[in-house]
Amino acid sequence: MTYVMGRTAAEYARLRAQAKIWEGATAGLLDTVGLAPGARCLDVGCGPGETMRLMAERVGPAGRVVGVDVDGELGRTAVTALADAGHGQCEFVEGDVERADPVPDGGFDLVFGRLILLHVADPVAVLRRMWGWTAPGGVLVVQDYDMEAVAANPPLPVIDEWRRVFLGTFAAAGRDHRLGLRLPALFAAATGARPDGTAVAGRLDRMETSAPMLAATYRSITPAGISLGTVTPEEADRFQADIARAAVDQPDHQALWPLLIGAHRRR
Ligand SMILES: C[S@@+](CC[C@H](N)C(=O)[O-])C[C@H]1O[C@@H](n2cnc3c(N)ncnc32)[C@H](O)[C@@H]1O
Repeated sequence: MTYVMGRTAAEYARLRAQAKIWEGATAGLLDTVGLAPGARCLDVGCGPGETMRLMAERVGPAGRVVGVDVDGELGRTAVTALADAGHGQCEFVEGDVERADPVPDGGFDLVFGRLILLHVADPVAVLRRMWGWTAPGGVLVVQDYDMEAVAANPPLPVIDEWRRVFLGTFAAAGRDHRLGLRLPALFAAATGARPDGTAVAGRLDRMETSAPMLAATYRSITPAGISLGTVTPEEADRFQADIARAAVDQPDHQALWPLLIGAHRRR
């Protein structure tokens, strides 16, 4: 398995910051599909557990929220923090969703995955598994990026460099940086029909506030980029200096973030 973002404390902090940014888009989608008290939820590739919290708030103490992630340390830390915050209905199962079925078929009223299909070798196979875990009458919900959108206005060379290395490393690892755009087609292939609905969330922000996330994503992908030959350590150092300078010198340039594309289908 190639997970290009790495597993460092800095990457875990970045995932938590990223989850805050997309919290409204994810909460809106959970409310669109009508997540009710008592429902059984599965978060596939749950990471730091921020979506599990949104689920727990909606299903209440009678509900059940299970997170699955290949990163056991991250998932166990997430569930401990959720329990400390009063969400005792949350559980964690360590497992690789590309290789095994860590949960029983048909067991969940909501099966959800955010920014997971982008990271697997065979997204249709994983989506087919997720459909299998969805109970009759339950709903499958996915959110994933289309990273082609990333741009600056006025244009900035440091954003071109981010695109060269970040998107290039994804491609070199055999991953599709436009996966979000393909969600309707992936649903059709994995579940037999296109989604019931889609939702697109975006973010246009000043360079001053966008630069730290761009710097963090680039930093997390750099070790994979070095081993795949898309960036050198010297280029990576230069990028970090350039993006820090851009935040100060061009604070009001606009940065367009990846689009977060959602799709849902009831079983
Ligand atoms: C970009 S993070 C997204 C985390 C979370 N869904 C969110 O949006 O905040 C991707 C997560 O998927 C997990 N992951 C990647 N490949 C996986 C696999 N094959 N099986 C289970 N989890 C996987 C990673 O460990 C990581 O926690």
